[in-house]
Amino acid sequence: MTELKSVTLDRALKAPALPDAQTVTKVTHYTDRLFSFRVARPQSLRFRSGEFVMIGLLDDNGRPLLRAYSIASPSWDEELEFYSIKVPDGPLTSRLQHIQPGDQIILRPKPVGTLVHDALLPGKRIYFFATGTGFAPFASLLRDPDTYERYDQVIITHTCRDVAELTYGREIVESLADDPLIGEFVGDKLRYYPTTTREQSPKMGRITTLIENGTLFADLGVPPLNPETDRAMVCGSLAFNLDIKALLEKAGLREGANSEPKEFVIEKAFVGDGV
Ligand code: FAD
Ligand code: A2P
Repeated sequence: MTELKSVTLDRALKAPALPDAQTVTKVTHYTDRLFSFRVARPQSLRFRSGEFVMIGLLDDNGRPLLRAYSIASPSWDEELEFYSIKVPDGPLTSRLQHIQPGDQIILRPKPVGTLVHDALLPGKRIYFFATGTGFAPFASLLRDPDTYERYDQVIITHTCRDVAELTYGREIVESLADDPLIGEFVGDKLRYYPTTTREQSPKMGRITTLIENGTLFADLGVPPLNPETDRAMVCGSLAFNLDIKALLEKAGLREGANSEPKEFVIEKAFVGDGV
């Protein structure tokens, strides 16, 4: 027994250090499906708010098990924040959900993504349309002064099944006005439009329905979508992304990319079963 222990320890000491390891500093659980966590930021990591990186843990065979994650913190933050689903038998999140401060995760410092300001032409009003964990890239963009410098109005919609699933986003939005760093940039530019689909709340319904029947615009007191003035970023399930893309295109907005900025950009919040 003692021998086995010492062999294991010996191997561990000789093993190369975990590549790209970062230390977890904080973990917050919201529901049995959702949590957020913060990790130390690699000194060399630069990213644009809205981008994602690959993060993960070692699997049972000592191989990195990595998944794409939007960076939820803004680019000025000293730490990195992530907002995560807990998939009960998900290869990564069935284990990631148990991390605690002091633990290490793998973080590949190569940020990429389409939900960046540079992928959009200048406009007056920007819509961030999120469902579920699709809020994560907007948690970064909402805390970036650049967002408020570029637009007169910033509208974030977040649709979840239940009220509790809105908590992470609501807390971030509510913290913005008094934030010593970006409160003055936010001013009265930001509008928050949370909706639920499966539990009673002040505003019920899929955002696609609320766009189609004009409720969103009537509630906010803004004109319908207009490619001259309006820009949009979308992050949700594939089905959601496809449905909202059709509505944006019907209104005359065109999908852009880093290499060719236009009126809206889309990113999947996750890759669904069989997609
Ligand atoms: P997987 O084998 O990856 O997934 C199993 C199944 O769980 C999927 O088929 C899908 O049906 C479901 N699922 C996976 N992720 C989600 C989710 N986020 N919401 C609802 N259902 C899901 N996930 C996050 O939690 N936060 C993020 O910020 C995030 N950013 C992403 C950015 C991009 C560009 C992409 C492509 C994915 C992102 N994901 C994010 C999803 C993430 O990469 C993993 O799929 C997720 O962490 C689950 O990993 P897993 O190994 O446990 O299960
Ligand atoms: P619904 O409850 O009507 O399916 P999920 O947790 O499944 O990713 O869903 C997150 C939120 O996105 C839910 O409120 C869900 O509504 C909504 N949603 C799912 N698919 C679509 C879609 N195709 N168009 C609009 N909203 C959608």
